[in-house]
Amino acid sequence: MRLGLKLTAGIAVFIGLLAVIFYIESSNTAGEQSVRTHGCLLCHPGLFDTPLPGIAEQHSPGTPLRPLLTEAIQNAHSAISADAAARIVEFALPRQQQALALNHQTDAAQALYLAKCAACHGTHGEGQDDRYPPLRGSEWLTATPSRLQEILHRGLQGPITVRGKEWNATMLPPGIPPGEETEQLILFLRQQFARP
Ligand code: HEC
Ligand code: HEC
Repeated sequence: MRLGLKLTAGIAVFIGLLAVIFYIESSNTAGEQSVRTHGCLLCHPGLFDTPLPGIAEQHSPGTPLRPLLTEAIQNAHSAISADAAARIVEFALPRQQQALALNHQTDAAQALYLAKCAACHGTHGEGQDDRYPPLRGSEWLTATPSRLQEILHRGLQGPITVRGKEWNATMLPPGIPPGEETEQLILFLRQQFARP
């Protein structure tokens, strides 16, 4: 009797596991399965999370992305069948769209930096002699976002310390409108310059 119960419970757990595995398998798209079967991510971890090489240059908003991706994948591995390539593109498409959008935002933030900040803080955030403090490695970039936002909107007046060095100057408001642009610029500054 006891043994019978254990056996039944065991079988129930086994069937439950099978059901879970089946559910996970069937919830994968055909594209995802193709990517797995071909081991794309084994050789290229994160391949689809950044724009494929050449795609960012060739793609402009509004033009279809699908043919570009198909071509890039088939050029890279001619042994991949057209069918498999099409399925892999379905998997890659939303990720590439997201990656391209991020890329575009970074480009816009970089353009803003070059136009509004680089003259004083340097193209690479290196600063200028004793006139303008560096942004590269500056502890001001890792301060709270609201502190940075304030600097971008209101400017800054010394005395301040940047990487152990004293500055006592004035930065007038650099003319960055509040809103999304500020946030993108802050993200860009941190990504580019937060580490020395
Ligand atoms: C056995 C390892 C391996 C597998 C599996 C593999 N690739 Fe590649 N792939 C490579 C190598 C090596 C290159 C050439 C890299 C280079 O030239 O720098 C390459 C190049 C590429 C490129 C050109 C861009 C680049 O990063 O150089 C794309 C796109 C690409 N592969 C996509 C795929 C896709 C999609 C799959 C799955 C269908 C896949 N790869 C599977 C090894 C692999
Ligand atoms: C006209 C020159 C000038 C421009 C343009 C300028 N800054 Fe500054 N910035 C300064 C000076 C001078 C200081 C130091 C102010 C002080 O002593 O308090 C400073 C300080 C800073 C600081 C804090 C100290 C540091 O080095 O980390 C940050 C952050 C900063 N600026 C960011 C920016 C950003 C981002 C832009 C572009 C939107 C910009 N600045 C544009 C001159 C400038």
